[in-house]
Amino acid sequence: MNEQGKKVIFSGVQPSGKMTLGNYLGAIKSWTNLQNEYECFFSMVDMHAITVPQDPEVLRNQTIELLAQFIACGIDPEQNTIFIQSHVHQHAELNWALCTMTYMGELNRMTQFKDKSKKSEANLNAGLFTYPVLMAADILLYQADLVPVGDDQKQHLELARELANRFNNKYSETFVVPDGYFPKGTARVMSLQEPLNKMSKSDSNENGYILLAEDEKTTIKKIKRAVTDSIGEVNYTDEQPGLKNLINIYSAISDKTVEDIVKMYEGKGYGAFKGDMAEVVVEKLRSIREKYKYLLENRDYLEQIYVKGAQKAEVRAEKTLKDVYDKIGFIPRKF
Ligand code: TYM
Repeated sequence: MNEQGKKVIFSGVQPSGKMTLGNYLGAIKSWTNLQNEYECFFSMVDMHAITVPQDPEVLRNQTIELLAQFIACGIDPEQNTIFIQSHVHQHAELNWALCTMTYMGELNRMTQFKDKSKKSEANLNAGLFTYPVLMAADILLYQADLVPVGDDQKQHLELARELANRFNNKYSETFVVPDGYFPKGTARVMSLQEPLNKMSKSDSNENGYILLAEDEKTTIKKIKRAVTDSIGEVNYTDEQPGLKNLINIYSAISDKTVEDIVKMYEGKGYGAFKGDMAEVVVEKLRSIREKYKYLLENRDYLEQIYVKGAQKAEVRAEKTLKDVYDKIGFIPRKF
């Protein structure tokens, strides 16, 4: 809780590619629903992004594009603190302190590390291994009560909770122990081509994902090509994972319940379902896409936001870091 008695949210997205519909429905949409109730810190986590190879110029562009997408999706920059992770040096510092309290075995168990290390054996760097500790530092610096994320971050969030408890027990009450917040139905949006895998911006098959910033025709084409099954009836079951995923997306975007959608398509085929669904998705994304384009032409405005954001974030982060340094026995700086 902050000094005004409001609970605090922290969440972040890596500027390591284009934002997908999975990012939007798994995380950003929750942020927009929660922003009025909580004090929110939202970050473009560029330090996490460099755990896999990045082109410097592309990374810079993607960081700004991500900020524009946050705002285009409805995150209010006046009300929330939006900042670039590397602008607040306390993240790297708390990361180090927490690394010294994290067991190798805990990091070895992380499924995302196992998956990513399979994909990038040539660049198996230590940063990729300690990535979840930096994520814990992000969250704990702001004394966050709630962390709205997709399902794939559950294990990382567990570590953040564990480290908060470990530190509190070893020294004294220092960190809030954060809870996760996972949206119903869309905490794991699946690939449109391989519905047993997560929708991911790093998928080599671009028909598997929908990008917030692609054109309408492409989105419609991808939905129409989405893999379903040969059953031919619109049901919501695990035997029809492709369809189940499409219904979840349709439901989240239209705010219709799953039951309503299944009923609407009783006796109709997948063609009618996909056609309507594509229309609903495109309609929803249209205003986001228009706003995004407009914002990207207003770089000065975006710069003001991330400068102000980092200044605000740093004050809060420093307060926590000072407390941590004091407790672990560092001599305070007198200069
Ligand atoms: P990242 O950048 O991979 O994804 C950003 C957010 O989108 C969610 N997400 C999904 N949700 C549902 N279905 C999907 N297919 C899907 N794909 C992605 C992610 O769960 C995430 O919420 N480690 C984080 C970034 C991070 C962070 C943090 C998050 C760094 N520090 C502190 C919260 C708090 C990540 O890689 O997200």
